[in-house]
Amino acid sequence: MKDRWSREINYMRISVTDQCNLRCCYCMPEEGIPSIDKSELLTFDEIETIVKAGVSIGINAIKITGGEPLLRDDITKLIKNIKNIDGIKQVTLTTNGVLLERYADELKEAGIDSININVPTLTKEKYASITRRNEFIQMIQGIRKARDIGIHLKLNCVSRKTITDEELYGFAMIAKHYPIDIRFIEMMPLGFGKLFDTYSNDKILERLKAIFQDKIHLSTVSGNGPAVYYEFDDLVGKIGFVSAVSHKFCSDCNRIRLSAEGELKLCLNYDEGVSLRDVLRNGNQDLLLSVMEQAIFEKPQAHCFYEEASDKVEMKNMVQIGG
Ligand code: GTP
Ligand code: 5AD
Ligand code: SF4
Repeated sequence: MKDRWSREINYMRISVTDQCNLRCCYCMPEEGIPSIDKSELLTFDEIETIVKAGVSIGINAIKITGGEPLLRDDITKLIKNIKNIDGIKQVTLTTNGVLLERYADELKEAGIDSININVPTLTKEKYASITRRNEFIQMIQGIRKARDIGIHLKLNCVSRKTITDEELYGFAMIAKHYPIDIRFIEMMPLGFGKLFDTYSNDKILERLKAIFQDKIHLSTVSGNGPAVYYEFDDLVGKIGFVSAVSHKFCSDCNRIRLSAEGELKLCLNYDEGVSLRDVLRNGNQDLLLSVMEQAIFEKPQAHCFYEEASDKVEMKNMVQIGG
């Protein structure tokens, strides 16, 4: 279906937990966040009911996120069930990769189409300082395992001023040797992200061009998300840029979000939505579709990162929003 700004909505990001085993400084407080009572989380049956309703109004791609989605018990079962819903073309996962080595085989078996992994840096020391945990080797093992069994991978790196040319080169070398896409993500001023300056992706691109002497072309390929990709002559994988701050992409937005507690959220920047869990649990199942249609129709036109404060602005952290 289309929203009132004529955008076709076909992509649903589903957060399955707001807990995480890392504490990335731009996402989570050091002490973590209080966990939601299990009874407040959507059950897998409820998620599947909502996905089926979504399919009937045009949703065909699903992203499973968190927090860290691999912390949710039996997550591969949910992925398998969603993959088997008629009308779903793609189910992908965004994870920090720490538990990936353990779950890669099951994920492949469940039919996962692609996995995005949060790789904030390529050195163990910097990783520990950004994520406040010593899981670098575990994450690398997860990437290796998933690559070895042929899962399509994208690595997400939040852009920062302190990324060195060596790191940029290192990321590009991964894409040189493997069909793995590398994506640089501009820091968004959401939650703890507000404490950091956004380093423009244009600068990262400029530096990569200098390193690779301009052997670079804009790619026609895209994912379900907002990344713009470039191909380099010598690389197998592509380099993508998610530039929500410097190049607002809201006019092409195709997505809605479902929080772990069942709130249908229309834009990551607004604390506005409707509880589909309440609709389901209050015995109003018949209303599910019309509630979803109405909410999607009302989707905000654009984010308001740097505009005047409003009481509708999202104050939650990225870990609770699901990226
Ligand atoms: P695929 O490329 O299809 O895998 O999707 P994706 O890029 O949306 O997936 P991922 O979960 O890896 O998200 C990458 C970054 O894009 C994260 O930082 C998200 O917060 C950001 N992102 C995704 N959707 C939106 C959006 O609607 N608005 C903004 N501003 N950022 C978004
Ligand atoms: N701005 C941009 N990206 C962020 N992420 C977490 N917090 C922020 C932020 N403030 C990224 C993670 C992960 C993706 C889902 O969102 O690093 O790759
Ligand atoms: Fe966890 Fe991802 Fe947030 Fe890091 S960015 S704390 S890995 S949810």
